[in-house]
Amino acid sequence: MGDPVTEYSARFQQQEREIQSLSAEIESLKNPQNLGPSPRLDELREENAKLKYRLNVLKRSFQEESTSCGKTMTNINQRLQEIFGEAIRASFPELDDPPLAVAPNQQAKFGDYQCNSAMAMAQMLKARGKKVNPREIAEKIVQNLPDNELVQKTEIAGPGFINIHLKKTFVSKLLNNLLMNGVQPPPLACRKKVVVDFSSPNIAKEMHVGHLRSTIIGDSMSRLFEFLGYEVLRLNHVGDWGTQFGMLIAHLQDKFPDYLSVSPPISDLQAFYKESKKRFDEDEDFKKRAYQCVVRLQSKEPDFIKAWNMICDVSRREFQKVYDCLDIKIIERGESYYQDLMTRVVKEFEDKGLVELDEGRKLVFATGQSLPLTVVKSDGGYTYDTSDLAALRQRLFEEKADIIIYVTDSGQGSHFQVVFAAAQMIGWYDPRVTRVEHAGFGVVLGEDKKKFKTRSGDTVRLMDLLEEGLKRSMDKLREKERDKVLTPEELMKAQRAVAFGCIKYADLSHNRINDYVFSFDKMLDDRGNTAAYLLYAFTRIRSIARLASLDESTLKRAAETTQILLDHEKEWKLGKCILRFPEILQKILDDLLLHTLCDYLYELATTFTEFYDSCYCVEKDRQTGEVIKINMWRMLLCEATATIMAKCFDILGINPVQRM
Ligand code: ARG
Repeated sequence: MGDPVTEYSARFQQQEREIQSLSAEIESLKNPQNLGPSPRLDELREENAKLKYRLNVLKRSFQEESTSCGKTMTNINQRLQEIFGEAIRASFPELDDPPLAVAPNQQAKFGDYQCNSAMAMAQMLKARGKKVNPREIAEKIVQNLPDNELVQKTEIAGPGFINIHLKKTFVSKLLNNLLMNGVQPPPLACRKKVVVDFSSPNIAKEMHVGHLRSTIIGDSMSRLFEFLGYEVLRLNHVGDWGTQFGMLIAHLQDKFPDYLSVSPPISDLQAFYKESKKRFDEDEDFKKRAYQCVVRLQSKEPDFIKAWNMICDVSRREFQKVYDCLDIKIIERGESYYQDLMTRVVKEFEDKGLVELDEGRKLVFATGQSLPLTVVKSDGGYTYDTSDLAALRQRLFEEKADIIIYVTDSGQGSHFQVVFAAAQMIGWYDPRVTRVEHAGFGVVLGEDKKKFKTRSGDTVRLMDLLEEGLKRSMDKLREKERDKVLTPEELMKAQRAVAFGCIKYADLSHNRINDYVFSFDKMLDDRGNTAAYLLYAFTRIRSIARLASLDESTLKRAAETTQILLDHEKEWKLGKCILRFPEILQKILDDLLLHTLCDYLYELATTFTEFYDSCYCVEKDRQTGEVIKINMWRMLLCEATATIMAKCFDILGINPVQRM
């Protein structure tokens, strides 16, 4: 026998598969051709209902198991939803899919959480011709609440809100668990594989701020999934294939005839690209040769492959500089990787009769989409559409990914929509089973709210941008006279942490859907919701323990024996805020909006400040400065705050330093 969690997950998975296939069967039975009385359908329905019930029981025991063994963090909001969900079902079994709305309460006087389902349920009942007052509904729900470990009491307020007060002992115990076990992700019912396609610059072209956004957001999403226990494949879908390589290779042959024996000293690939493009546009002979080069490259002639590799290497080294600064791990798997598969994919669409010819081009019209995909150009070449179809197929069938996420600017939204629709049309995946999603983002603007450019109007080189960040962050540290207290090594660490942390945080803390204004002044400000503020706040919290001369192991031992008191209003507020971490992660998992994590981190830091301003942690003798009293349970609250903050930084890809 394995451990109960694994065992439950296995059973759970199996049940889920059963339900899935049953639902599929039911769906097919619903097909109008099969209509008519169907005993099989009724049988299936009944079986399915039983399965669902069994699944819920399993899920619950799975949850209870993990809560009681206390290793993983409990998602309080989710627990309340389960409990209230049960009460709602018991109160009104006639409602098929009753609304379940539980959320934390903003105002403490109304309790800790709130359940707002009664109002919407009254509407549902009314639609069924039954008039019930929402307050009565709320009362019934409360009466039917099952026994549970976390609700202290409930009150019904206003038109039918249910205010929920949590048990102090429960919250306190969860905090102890957190300190003893560290931040453990909520239990994952089954291990899943995620592909995150991000960064993805183009060879021989500038890696621009759009790619910077993709890199930062994609890395953070990957970190989130990794923390939650998913298997994550981080893929760099670089643009490394296509007709531009013809002219690049032709130009390489002319400029560096001995390129096969001596590595060509191209320092500025951009300039090299521009030169070759100019020749391509002006010189007919060169153009012809460029096309021949493409053909010979695509037929994989070794010398051409070698030239292509050399050009890619120059770009690769440039990209790597950016990744090193930002501490990005990613596997390069560019468009060229899918070369052979593209041919097969086109054939697959043709075999199924899904390709239309149009002036020599091959098009695919996906169901419900007005724009077609061009899978083969009139010159026989493949396109961005073809490579994305091939990549998607590879990720679904070879990688067996359960979740696939593409992080690019929103401008590519329609491209992905059509690709996904085509993949569904040909039957590669069912969106109810596999999650394939484009996580788009807005453009980067300058402080003048216009497209982000240098003063002279050129595109900003990423390395220049990162270097300016470093310079500005050092200015800031000097301005605060940190150079006087930190060792040169500490100072340099702080400089990098602040510079790169601020650039990442500024991006991540804005809703990615919106355009975002890049401003060094704003991101380096140490007031407000910025990395600079949070990094300072974090080091300050860490220093409280140092002040009391408590090391990690002492704190850990204290966590086992000290009851965390939550009597002071600010202690209570902080304790609950700390424990909201799992619900925040759950929300981000659903909508992939990372700014929620930044908002939470900022709220945690400010809630901590409120607590620290009104609750003594370490009491000192006024005259001698000697420590006379340590309020250990409060030190533990500091520690729990720091632990969660550190985990947030980790997911955001920000490196907090010990001293700054
Ligand atoms: N190279 C593309 C660009 O710079 C982004 C690629 C994104 N990923 C993908 N599978 N299409 O716009």
